[in-house]
Amino acid sequence: MTGSRRLLGQATRGKTAPNRLRKTDTFLAVAYPELVRHMPGLYVDLGYGFFPITSVETRLRLGRLNPALQVLGVEIDPERVAGAAPFASEGLSFRLGGFNLPLLAGEQVSVVRAFNVLRQYTEAAVAEALTALAAPLTPGGLILEGTSDPLGRLLTFNLYQKQGAELTRTALVLAPSLHAGFLPRQFQAVLPKNFIHHAEPGGPIDGFFGAWHAAWQRARAEAADPRQVFARAARRLAEHYGYTLDQRPALLRRGFLALGANWPETQRPG
Ligand SMILES: C[S@@+](CC[C@H](N)C(=O)[O-])C[C@H]1O[C@@H](n2cnc3c(N)ncnc32)[C@H](O)[C@@H]1O
Repeated sequence: MTGSRRLLGQATRGKTAPNRLRKTDTFLAVAYPELVRHMPGLYVDLGYGFFPITSVETRLRLGRLNPALQVLGVEIDPERVAGAAPFASEGLSFRLGGFNLPLLAGEQVSVVRAFNVLRQYTEAAVAEALTALAAPLTPGGLILEGTSDPLGRLLTFNLYQKQGAELTRTALVLAPSLHAGFLPRQFQAVLPKNFIHHAEPGGPIDGFFGAWHAAWQRARAEAADPRQVFARAARRLAEHYGYTLDQRPALLRRGFLALGANWPETQRPG
């Protein structure tokens, strides 16, 4: 390891569930297929919780695209690390660590997923955590930092990318389970830490959800298939309301609303 340093962070509630983070795997496979297939560094699942089901599932799913994938589950709670040991296998290991990742000499990191971790910290802790996580990232490496509901039917995450020496926030991704049904405003309860306390009535976040709801209602009057409703509403958010978003059909039909880094602002002047 790179020194016996103080672990950055603290143990928090460890709740998790099978398939809870499945959409993060789908998102990476669809939006970053080359990175998944040729990942030069580790995939770190930071804060996997009471049992390492999300790490196990990600190794299985993304391992189908990249058999050489190395997933490292990192937990700050020693009992959870000991409990995960029996799940270690080819391409999947577990270590005790914090935001300052417990890497061996020469190891690099290509992806960090930190889900339902920062939500239990103060907003002030976010910047330090991201700086530490970004340090070992390979060029072009990604951090998915987000929140979900208990079963993973609603996911939101900030997508950060290492560009040069800088970590840049490139998107906010909102991902519902289309077959389960959802209301756009339900996402307000699962926004990542940097946004959840800023959704005051009449503000830009509230305005976004009002626009999405209106676009979604309109789309529901025009189409029945949930994927079509989602995609139509998304395109209207861009074309009519001026929100920046990734309109690739492969993302829209799987229910990924990847909003630009300027969210919740729009492209509209004034
Ligand atoms: C609610 S669980 C999330 C489990 C899983 N990621 C999920 O979304 O289903 C949060 C876990 O993060 C761990 N944790 C909190 N801060 C951490 C840190 N700085 N480094 C590593 N693990 C951390 C906690 O110990 C806890 O087990």
